[in-house]
This record gives sequence, C-alpha cells and structure tokens, in this order.
Amino acid sequence: MTMDTAELTRLDRAHLIHPYLPGDAAERVIMASGSGCRLTDTEGRGYLDATGGLWLAQVGHGRTELADVAHAQMSKLEYFTSFWEFSNERAIELAARLAALAPDPLNHVYFTSGGSEGNEAAIKMARYHHHRRGESSRTWILARSKAYHGIGYGGGSATGFPLYHEGFAPMMPHVSHLTPPWPYRTDLYGGEDPTDFLIRELEERIAEIGPENIAAMIGEPIMGVGGMLVPPADYWPRVREVLDRHGILLIFDEVVTAYGRMGEWFAAQHFGVTPDIIVTAKGITSGYVPLGALLVGDHVAETLLRDHGFPMGYTYNGHPVATAVATANLDIIEKEGMLARATERGAFLHAELEAHLGDLPIVGEIRSVGMMLAVELVQDRTTRTPLPLHPDRMPHDVIRRETGVIVRDSAHSLVMSPPLVMTESEAKEVATALRGVLERTAPTGEIRTA
Ligand SMILES: Cc1ncc(COP(=O)(O)O)c(C=O)c1O
Repeated sequence: MTMDTAELTRLDRAHLIHPYLPGDAAERVIMASGSGCRLTDTEGRGYLDATGGLWLAQVGHGRTELADVAHAQMSKLEYFTSFWEFSNERAIELAARLAALAPDPLNHVYFTSGGSEGNEAAIKMARYHHHRRGESSRTWILARSKAYHGIGYGGGSATGFPLYHEGFAPMMPHVSHLTPPWPYRTDLYGGEDPTDFLIRELEERIAEIGPENIAAMIGEPIMGVGGMLVPPADYWPRVREVLDRHGILLIFDEVVTAYGRMGEWFAAQHFGVTPDIIVTAKGITSGYVPLGALLVGDHVAETLLRDHGFPMGYTYNGHPVATAVATANLDIIEKEGMLARATERGAFLHAELEAHLGDLPIVGEIRSVGMMLAVELVQDRTTRTPLPLHPDRMPHDVIRRETGVIVRDSAHSLVMSPPLVMTESEAKEVATALRGVLERTAPTGEIRTA
C-alpha cells in the first residue's frame, strides 16, 4: 500500500503522538530515505542533516552493510534473554570490544535499549553499590541545572530543566542541582574563575547534604541539550578529585559524546578523567537499531555481582541484533578513521561558521569540540542577553523550511551534531544556510522574510 503525503499527514495527525509537538500543528516532514548526510522526504524534497537526527548517525544514513548484518543475525538468532546464565555471541563480542576501548578499569558492560534506560540503571547501580558496601545512607544524586539525562524518573529528576518536571511531580527525591559550567555566561560566577566557583559550590553542597548521604554525581561531559556547554579544561579533573575525597561516584552521561563525536571514543579520554560509570547509547549503533551500554568500573561491578547479582534487567539486555549492528558500526568508525575525521571536519565546520557568521551582531559565541557545535544567539554582544525566541518562527525552523538544512535550537543556541561523514562542501552549505537566515534576524528575534 503506497500512500501519498496528504494521506500520511492525515493519519499521522490522527494517530501519532510526537514529543514536543502540539496537537493542532499542521506541518509534518515525513522522511522517506537517507544517504550520508542527505535525507529525502515523501515529497521528494532534499534535506541536509546537520543534527544526525538527535545527535547520532555517526556513520551517516543508508549504510546497507549494517542492514546486511542485521539481516544475517535475525536469520540466525533474532533474540534470546541475557538474564541469569543465558548469553549470546554478539553481546559477548561487543562487551569485550567496549571494555577494550574504554579507559581502565571500566571493564564491565550492562546493555540497555537507549539513553534514558541507561541513566536509570546508572543511578540504581550507584545506590546499590553503596548499599552493598554497607553505606545505605548514600542515596543523594548531584546533578546540574541545564542537564539532560533522559525522561525516566531517576534520570528525569537529574535533568535540570523545569519544563521536564512541571506536571510530572513528585519527581525522585534526593537530587540536588548545581550550577552548570558555561564559561560564556560569566554572570553565573559573579566575576570569579568559573571552575573555582563551581568547585567551591560543589564542596559546599557536599558539606550541606553530608558526604555520607551522597551516592553519585551525574553529568554530561559537554552538556548537549543545554546548548553544547563546554566546561573549562580543569573542571572535570577537579570535580573528580573532590568526589574521590568523599567516596562519591562519578557517572558520565556520554549518550551524546561517545563513539567519535568529540574525536575520541569517549569524552572521558578527551578530558583525561576516568568516571566510575559511563552511560552510552545513540552513536553505539549510529541509530540503526536502538541500543545503549553502560561501562562499569571493576570496583562497582564487584559489589553489584555479589550474592544474587544485580537485581534489575531489561527484556532487551544484550539484544543479539542490536549488538551485532553495534559491532559492525564500531568497525566502520574504526576502518574509516572517523575519530580523526570528527576532529578535522568539526574544525572545518567551525571555521566556516566563523567566516559566515562572525560579523553578525546577534552571534555571541561559536563553540565546538569535534562534531558538536553551537552558535549562541544574543540580543546584545556586550550584555550577552539571550536573543528572544518566537516559538512560531524560530531560526532553526526558518532555516529548514527555506534551505532544507536541519539544525536544532537549544537554549538560545543553534546546535549541530552532524554525521561524522559530512563533507567539506556540505559543511559550507550549512554555514551559508545559517547566514541566510541569521543576517535577517533582528535583536528582537524577529526574522524578516527573504
Ligand atoms: C545526554 C543525554 N542523556 C540521555 C538521553 C536520553 O536518551 P534516550 O532518548 O535514548 O532515552 C539523551 C537524549 O538526547 C541525552 O542527550
């Protein structure tokens, strides 16, 4: 049955609940196919994907070799459980591969189907680890404002945006939010060095709650949804030192930053810090099938695996098809030198954005690490007041409608996380598209029609 776009749109509006889309919104963009960074909708219109869908698509769209791997594995063993003593070849291979890629001592792997599930598991692991060591009072989780840790009640409570909590209360108790590292917003730190301020705040918060009551701190090494907030280089090493002194675990939420996006397998390597648990998802399969993986330190795994073992599991822990595709995806990343490419292409796109947008008064800062980039928009460069946003005419929507280039808005920034295979000419196309709309954007946020 082939349906035309009008019929698909009607059925979509009648039946599909989209995250963050009001019921009366008429527009739909129905994607039909993809190749590399290019997408085509059911009307045959082309798009340039500068967001990797939702921060993934590392190896690009349309890789038939990954489809072949899924087909072969489904034909052999589509599924069996990984509970108890049961296992499968593909999950074992991938776990061993991840343990080899991750910093020591992160040698144990717990699979999930995505990032939200991963953060639920990480928070539970942290509490359970302390419980098993006889420190059951360690229940508090430290997080940061502007953090995004998915939509579960654990990770969702650690998420630091009021929007994600409003109407869903009561959220999980025993979560405390700290100030985010966002060096461009100097006002957050009252003129003090950002890291000094943030470390002092961390120490004070630990003293207030009592270190004996704190299980873990969770953080995205670079805050993605918060607007690609890149911390100063000394932030994570100093946080790690404080947490170590108080026996508090560090959970890195690397759902966005892992698997090449920052030019390394993990952001932990970029920042030179070894967390106790790393949560990953997205890029592990480039999105070809849903999968997540927690990388767990030996010292945490040792307590979780005592007695009756770790008492929580998902039906899809270690799914054979998902883990087979993930291994093939990591092979492509490795074979095609995508870690180095992410650094090189990210720098190229950054330079293009500087060249095309640097002179615009509403562009406050352009920042990036590898293939994570943001253009922070301001009303006034001196005061750094955020650009007012008009929900019915946002810059990223206008850019997509006029040029087919897909970028996202994120807390007054335009953010990009393209497939790592983006070419130089595609990077130029992104910068040109942004210029075309941002040069018509007034400090009031109004966008003149072309
Ligand atoms: C840092 C981070 N953690 C967790 C998640 C949630 O992952 P998922 O949507 O796969 O549940 C996301 C999603 O964007 C994310 O950016």
